[in-house]
Amino acid sequence: MAPREGKTPDSRLDPQVAHRLKELSLLVSLPQITVRLIQLISQPNSSLQELRGVVERDPALTAKVISLANSTYYSLRNPTKTVERAITIIGFQELGLLALGLGLTETFNVSLAPKGFDVESLWIHSLAVSWVSQRLANKLKSVESGEAMIAGLLHEIGTIVLVSKFPLLFQRLLDLILAGRPGLEAESVLKIRHEIVGHELASLWKLPEGYQEAILCHHNPELAGRYKVLAAMVALADVLAHKIGFGLPTEVCEVDLGYSLKTLGLTPGDLQEFIRETIVAAKDILPLWRQLLKTGEPTTTQKSRFSALIPEKS
Ligand SMILES: [Fe+2]
Ligand SMILES: [Fe+2]
Repeated sequence: MAPREGKTPDSRLDPQVAHRLKELSLLVSLPQITVRLIQLISQPNSSLQELRGVVERDPALTAKVISLANSTYYSLRNPTKTVERAITIIGFQELGLLALGLGLTETFNVSLAPKGFDVESLWIHSLAVSWVSQRLANKLKSVESGEAMIAGLLHEIGTIVLVSKFPLLFQRLLDLILAGRPGLEAESVLKIRHEIVGHELASLWKLPEGYQEAILCHHNPELAGRYKVLAAMVALADVLAHKIGFGLPTEVCEVDLGYSLKTLGLTPGDLQEFIRETIVAAKDILPLWRQLLKTGEPTTTQKSRFSALIPEKS
């Protein structure tokens, strides 16, 4: 799927960035195991044995899975030593998310990110949008939940590429934002809209078209075509992640919520109820994300965000 020329005024990429992305797509490929996991999780009839088989082929992933199942988050009485039990404890899709996240962090080294940019917030945001997309899919049943989860995890792949592979350009972007330009506008000035960068890479990698479209349209779901439901779901999850405290500092989400709600068949009342439930559930999921990222305890800011968000008697 090609970017829609003309529908977005700034859909052209800086030619040097476009050229470098083509080179990158040849030099940097997603690990085979990540590609296989994307297939497995996207298919509703994949089995636990298939997932186990993929995980056990990678010793580092096996160790991480077992250590996560034995972490304080799950408070097991008897530690597990097998991948099979670890999968049962962690959950099929959650484990897939962990493995995919590891694949991405392995492929994109964000240690070169400019000072002042909170890399952790980028990963947490990606995990949050993945999780909210999955919850929406479970509620609405119009998209496979594994597919929604992956689309959510990948939606900021463009930002991840910019941070890890174009750190100097990303620094210029941060400078513009610090000078008061809104994030998306600043990206347009530099011709590095992250949705376009992400879509370009996803299409060079030949990821399934639904993911390509969700990545491209996550700030403009009304531009999506065949996969408009998936795109609207990720766009809504993106806004909700911002609303519940897991936004990206480089962007303000100004999406036409009305369009997403109509496309998904949700009323404003449904949305309010979904937000309330999600805020309560988010309180329990944050420690798992931090465990995945090995970043320790929630920061004071996150703690205070939660205490402000969560109803007193929940
Ligand atoms: Fe975005
Ligand atoms: Fe986002």
